Amino acid sequence: MNKQTVVGGIRPTNKLHIGNYLGALKQFVAISNDNQITSYFFIVDLHSLTTPFEPKELKTNILDAAATYLAAGFNPKNSNLFIQSHIPEHAELAWIFNCITPLGELERMTQFKEKSQQHATNINAGLLSYPVLMAADILIYKPNGVSVGEDQVQHVELSRVIARKFNNKFGNTFPEPQTYIRKPLRIMSLTDPTKKMSKTGDEALNMDDEPKEIARKLKKAVTASEPGKKSPGEENLMFLLNHFGSEESVRHFTEAQNSGKLKYFELKETLAQNISDYFAEFREKKKELLSKPDYLAQVLGDGARKARETAHKTITEVKQKIGLL
Ligand code: AMP
Ligand code: TRP
Repeated sequence: MNKQTVVGGIRPTNKLHIGNYLGALKQFVAISNDNQITSYFFIVDLHSLTTPFEPKELKTNILDAAATYLAAGFNPKNSNLFIQSHIPEHAELAWIFNCITPLGELERMTQFKEKSQQHATNINAGLLSYPVLMAADILIYKPNGVSVGEDQVQHVELSRVIARKFNNKFGNTFPEPQTYIRKPLRIMSLTDPTKKMSKTGDEALNMDDEPKEIARKLKKAVTASEPGKKSPGEENLMFLLNHFGSEESVRHFTEAQNSGKLKYFELKETLAQNISDYFAEFREKKKELLSKPDYLAQVLGDGARKARETAHKTITEVKQKIGLL
């Protein structure tokens, strides 16, 4: 049987929180270590130009993202990790796709509507054609699967529409990729557990956070006025315990919860310790990697070289089919 091919794009934001970790990164790491899968993971620097950015920060964030992935266990020997803009074929294919994508398909994208509200003074053409570039990122590697979070499912659907349009017009070229999602999961905000954990203030625990910071944020985490009410805050903390806690602490606190003897301060202290321990190796490894920019450049360079071979084949085939070559 042929190996499966899976692709995934990673936004270069340096502060990944434990929601990003459990919801996305952990799956990327698992895929990168699976030798039954050929995978391509790229840091989507071109996509980050669609919303306001600082050039200096962007450069740091790109390397930071690479260090984060590698420190979390991403295997660059079995997978291809690279920077999107280093493979110019992505942008070239995006232009060709732009010319077969109906405007209406782009205008109805949920993310476009949300982001144009959020950045009302900067609704640029890139923001609108964002999913076309994403379709090019995907289809250029002719994958079976695309590893994304739930919020990107609509964009993956559009990549199938674009593949179909291209195939109908110019002959069968692109397989239609499926979304590759493990069971979806949502980590809630520490300060408002009815909302998804996102990147602001004390509501998120970052993967980089030092033990003291983890303990401080957890101490303030909103729970119920009384333990045992199974409030969203309590459920969220127990959920985190299930992922990061030792078997023994999971058993202990589940029993306490069931018998109405749960003490929040005890749960928070244990959880803080468990999460700090879980990411201890990650924190050390990431610092070490960031002190070796040459090594990071080498990994990204190797990934780009291999990816470019495939990308080049596809763009040549496309150019031949549409009459550019
Ligand atoms: P973002 O940077 O918010 O676009 O998220 C990057 C990835 O992390 C996406 O695949 C999201 O689905 C996932 N993610 C973000 N926040 C959470 C959360 N609170 N719980 C689970 N997954 C999340
Ligand atoms: N839009 C994706 C996100 O915000 C990132 C992305 C860009 C991507 N290109 C991709 C994801 C290709 C998967 C495949 O998460």
